[in-house]
Amino acid sequence: MKKILGIGGSPRKGGNSDILLQRLLKGASVEGAATEGIQLRDYQIQPCIACERCRKDKQCTGLQDGMQLIYPKIREAGGIVLISPVYSYNLTALTKSFIDRLYCYYYFSDERPGYWSSQLADQGRKAIIAVVGEQATRAEGGMDLTLETMRRSIEALGYDVIDELPVLGIFHKGKVREYPQVLEQAETLGRRLASLL
Ligand SMILES: Cc1cc2nc3c(=O)[nH]c(=O)nc-3n(C[C@H](O)[C@H](O)[C@H](O)COP(=O)(O)O)c2cc1C
Repeated sequence: MKKILGIGGSPRKGGNSDILLQRLLKGASVEGAATEGIQLRDYQIQPCIACERCRKDKQCTGLQDGMQLIYPKIREAGGIVLISPVYSYNLTALTKSFIDRLYCYYYFSDERPGYWSSQLADQGRKAIIAVVGEQATRAEGGMDLTLETMRRSIEALGYDVIDELPVLGIFHKGKVREYPQVLEQAETLGRRLASLL
């Protein structure tokens, strides 16, 4: 069965990212996917310390923390939805730490910089990236930068980023509930992801 893992990167419980993630996953489940949503704030996630033990072990063995619970979920899910609010023109620290900890999926040649590939590549994995921010235009508040950071990181890991959801002009906790068309859009994207898996 197709599985989709939703990953929320907001420190704020019950905020706009949480609401959007729920709708994205609702769409995916309507389309027949098995979905699971996790919030990174519920896990202890240390930043990557570049111990490079994953070079030898082919998995993260250097840090025994909450990521060890998330890695199997990533492996098993053909699709992911990753959402973060914009914090200071880019991803939240939680989301960035999470992405850096996916470094263990890469194979690198001994020569650096040099050839690299990802253990997750060439398996038809697909992703949707979503970002919510306060500012009204994409350039102003860092929306473009945040989406680009997410897209490049997720594509490098071997996912096909099939779509992105920029949600602009939303600051207060839960405010996105007042924008039903945005929630509809999220649900439609979730359906699309599931239909492509
Ligand atoms: C520390 C902090 C930094 C922020 N920086 C930005 C920013 O650079 N650009 C922006 O558009 N919004 C910024 N915001 C606003 C949040 O992106 C916005 O409130 C968003 O709706 C929060 O999503 P959430 O409810 O899922 O946590 C910032 C908010 C906080 C708390």
